[in-house]
Amino acid sequence: MKGVVLVGGTGSRLRPLTNIINKHLLPVGDMPMIQYAIEKLAKAGVFDILIITGKQSSGLYVDYLGGGERFGVNLTYKIQEKAGGIAQALALAEDFVHSDEKFVVILGDNLFEDNLHPIIHTFEKQVEGAMVILKEVADPRRYGVASMKDGHIDRIEEKPEKPNSNYAVTGIYLYDSSVFAIIKSQVPSARGELEITDVNNVYAAAGALTHTFFTGWWIDAGTHESLFQATLLVRKEEI
Ligand code: DAU
Repeated sequence: MKGVVLVGGTGSRLRPLTNIINKHLLPVGDMPMIQYAIEKLAKAGVFDILIITGKQSSGLYVDYLGGGERFGVNLTYKIQEKAGGIAQALALAEDFVHSDEKFVVILGDNLFEDNLHPIIHTFEKQVEGAMVILKEVADPRRYGVASMKDGHIDRIEEKPEKPNSNYAVTGIYLYDSSVFAIIKSQVPSARGELEITDVNNVYAAAGALTHTFFTGWWIDAGTHESLFQATLLVRKEEI
């Protein structure tokens, strides 16, 4: 299975740090943030990886990661010209993924403890559709939130004021190649972005969205507070 890591976007919640460097190159513990996603994929047996960056700091990703040999992976790069949403960035992976191939996506600011291997293995057996990974959190309003019905995801609400559950949809997604046709059918949301949650809701409405849970810690390191927490978590793991 191939992997896609998304590291575009503006990182506005991490200003002023992101005025000078892209969010996913900021240090978390003793490594730049993006390295965690690359290492997680390599550990799960995903060696063919596309990195989608914005224009900001794009050369620095190549400087640091190169072709991926150091991590035992093969890296390809693409540029998202303007931050137009997660789904817009993902659309750029279409040529990288074969038409009958499934793949895994990691949002570069998501750090987590679990090994992805068993999750990928389960998804490989799923005939078609998509899979998301949920994590129970105390305050889900920052995330996509899953509304459950009869043990399935009925719908996902993006950053709801009144969440229907405490299940955050993490930024690790598994798709079949029909995702590209779904993205093409989408229109920008009120904030002007092609939303990954809208894409996932198309799968949910078709009964083609499965889910699993992270058992270990998970963090979206996209704010100053969570970036600090992420450093504490990875350092604890190393001790
Ligand atoms: O962290 C999990 C959450 O990530 C999910 O629960 C939400 O449903 C999902 O929408 C997303 O929410 P965020 O508000 O955290 O997304 P953010 O705009 O921070 O983008 C997350 C990553 O996606 C970012 O690290 C880089 C990538 N990205 C984002 C945008 C908007 C791109 O590559 N290009 C983009 O245009």
